[in-house]
Amino acid sequence: MTSRKKLVIFTGSGVSAESGINTFRDHGGLWEGYDVMEVASPIGWHNDPRRVLDFYNQRRAQLLNVQPNSAHIDLVSLEEHYQTIVITQNVDDLHERAGSSHVIHLHGELCKVRSTIHPEIIYEWKKDLKLGDTCEKGYQLRPHVVWFGEEVPELSRAIQETQQADLMVIIGTSLQVYPAASLVEFAPDDCKIFYIDPKPFISYALSKRNKPVIIQNTATKGVNELLKILI
Ligand code: OAD
Repeated sequence: MTSRKKLVIFTGSGVSAESGINTFRDHGGLWEGYDVMEVASPIGWHNDPRRVLDFYNQRRAQLLNVQPNSAHIDLVSLEEHYQTIVITQNVDDLHERAGSSHVIHLHGELCKVRSTIHPEIIYEWKKDLKLGDTCEKGYQLRPHVVWFGEEVPELSRAIQETQQADLMVIIGTSLQVYPAASLVEFAPDDCKIFYIDPKPFISYALSKRNKPVIIQNTATKGVNELLKILI
């Protein structure tokens, strides 16, 4: 029996757009309404933690009211044919809820919180997080997300996976945020690259790849096209 090829699926907020979750940099995206340094950075947390908590509480509440779309769901069917791993920049849990078995969250997870002093203390969290909510050692909890200027703890695992990829599918990301956007550089030279996005951004790293297949479409339609190619 031949071993199955390794497929790395790298997603951004665009894969969840059709579930009703805002992207960041599109017209009407989240970063038009919020100052990223105020709500998603250590200095923002230091200056006004209540504002930061409000921002993530709104995101979490919204997440609990949306569902995976057909792109999340169709991607799961690739697991029957490929050794599949999803590496997502998204803090939502829509890949897991759709049924993906292996998901790496580069930028953290909305439905988890962690201790500000003991980062290894992490809890599942579905309700609002408030000032005064503490870990078992008595320290304030914060969202378990990666803020601008913070390390990306899952990056090395994501790089290792990408280095073994036979195929890489990039979906719904503007490839603007590093180090996540540099992942494609770690794919082997002979790794076939697909990129699904209604407004694809051919980054420098992507432009150096041998003929990436650009599927200029929304995630739901684009993944549908992709399945016809890959299965
Ligand atoms: P962006 O808002 O930068 O990019 C969203 C991408 O999704 C764009 O390329 C859009 O063209 C595409 N898009 C929009 N609608 C789509 C649809 N229906 N189907 C498919 N694609 C669609 O969001 P990201 O690239 O995800 O980080 O942003 C990366 C990181 O920046 C986020 O993880 C977040 C943000 O700041 C942190 O907060 C640390």
